Amino acid sequence: MKALIIYFTMGGRTKKTAEAIASALSNYEVSYFPIELTGKFIEKIKMLDKYENKDFSMIDTELNNLDALPYDLIFIGMPTYGNFPPKVFDEILARMRNFSGKRAIVFNTARFTGGKSIDYMKEKVEEAGAQVIEQAKFRKVFWIGTKNAIKFGEKINERQE
Ligand SMILES: Cc1cc2nc3c(=O)[nH]c(=O)nc-3n(C[C@H](O)[C@H](O)[C@H](O)COP(=O)(O)O)c2cc1C
Repeated sequence: MKALIIYFTMGGRTKKTAEAIASALSNYEVSYFPIELTGKFIEKIKMLDKYENKDFSMIDTELNNLDALPYDLIFIGMPTYGNFPPKVFDEILARMRNFSGKRAIVFNTARFTGGKSIDYMKEKVEEAGAQVIEQAKFRKVFWIGTKNAIKFGEKINERQE
């Protein structure tokens, strides 16, 4: 089976979580679609600002090539910004081809909450016609570990359907 893990990360916590989940998916061939802000803090903030203002010109080609067709399972992982996922989440859903009818998993990382954001993610993925079979929040104020993410990955890996 094939899985695609789509994630956005600015500080690395969502990437770390995505990779921890993937490490447990031994029944899957895993591919990534990472959207990662890099460089100095100020550069990251500037890029985030562009994305939040719906300027995705820097990742236009990648977004246009996003196709769910080859995959049995699509993960989407996002940080939480002001109780919502970043705007790039909505853009991913708008651009991804062949997502309708797919099985999907949403997860997010947060410092304080993240509950409302994960509900929003689930709702939007379902509006796009995919079926959310699992969801998870990974919340830590400071150091985000991998234990819960690995556990979550193991649970998904063992699902029979
Ligand atoms: C602009 C901004 C807004 C944030 N808003 C929230 C929030 O509303 N609730 C929360 O729990 N954490 C919030 N956080 C914390 C991030 O969601 C959290 O650190 C996340 O794990 C970062 O993921 P990343 O390292 O992959 O970028 C915010 C962080 C930033 C930079």
